[in-house]
Amino acid sequence: MNLVAYLQDNKYKHELEEAANYLNIEIVSEQPTKNSFISYDKNGLYFIYISSSYSKKLHIDFLSGSMGWRLKRTDHEKLLKKTLGKTKDILNIFDGTAGLLSDSLIFLSLGHNVVACEQSKILFLLVKDACNRAKTNLPFLANLKLKQGNSHEVYIYEKDIDVIYLDPMYPKIKRNTLRSGNINLIRSILELEEIKDLEEGIVKKFFETDYKKIILKRPIKAQKFCSNINYQVKGKSTRFDIYI
Ligand SMILES: C[S@@+](CC[C@H](N)C(=O)[O-])C[C@H]1O[C@@H](n2cnc3c(N)ncnc32)[C@H](O)[C@@H]1O
Repeated sequence: MNLVAYLQDNKYKHELEEAANYLNIEIVSEQPTKNSFISYDKNGLYFIYISSSYSKKLHIDFLSGSMGWRLKRTDHEKLLKKTLGKTKDILNIFDGTAGLLSDSLIFLSLGHNVVACEQSKILFLLVKDACNRAKTNLPFLANLKLKQGNSHEVYIYEKDIDVIYLDPMYPKIKRNTLRSGNINLIRSILELEEIKDLEEGIVKKFFETDYKKIILKRPIKAQKFCSNINYQVKGKSTRFDIYI
């Protein structure tokens, strides 16, 4: 993998060594200019993507920025709430496409239990670090089980799941969309890790399982994955297809 771990501050040597071991990458003491890298500073773990065309930083923080804002006003999360339907029960939700954990955090903040699985080891480490930093402020994180791996393989070992939530990578489009900033970066991370099966392969696998309910997030104009949708929840650019 074209990735190194950069030891920026000796204070975080132990944490960096653990992450480097997990990713099986080399530790360097000079800031890389050509290789993408991970590093720790006082704000936690961060990742810098470097290519010939662009470079970008990813540091996940649930307490500030757009995620912090969303979590402060979860009563506005009408679409995700609607996808779960009217229920007073605490649901066990399996998020098979954890990504930056944004959707899972909303489910957790609504009082549900979530198992979230991400195939990228880099994203998994970044999200895990963000969870550790935020757990005092966001006590609902105690109801999260974060897993790394291929979600349909991880799912087999889970019991009593009420809802499978899937937000696979959208097909690549040239035009920039609201999601494109982070989505392009996720795409670059997956390329770096040589992970290929990005789009609908994962959905097919879950349809073969004995599911109670699948919520599939799609671009608003995307073709139906399957004709037997039970209901849809539509936003401006996104829709949720719900299969029961
Ligand atoms: C569009 S992003 C999800 C964004 C996420 N819903 C959020 O709120 O941040 C899709 C993510 O699903 C992950 N993914 C796709 N297929 C997967 C699989 N089979 N197992 C685990 N993760 C998968 C990708 O690595 C990517 O991070």
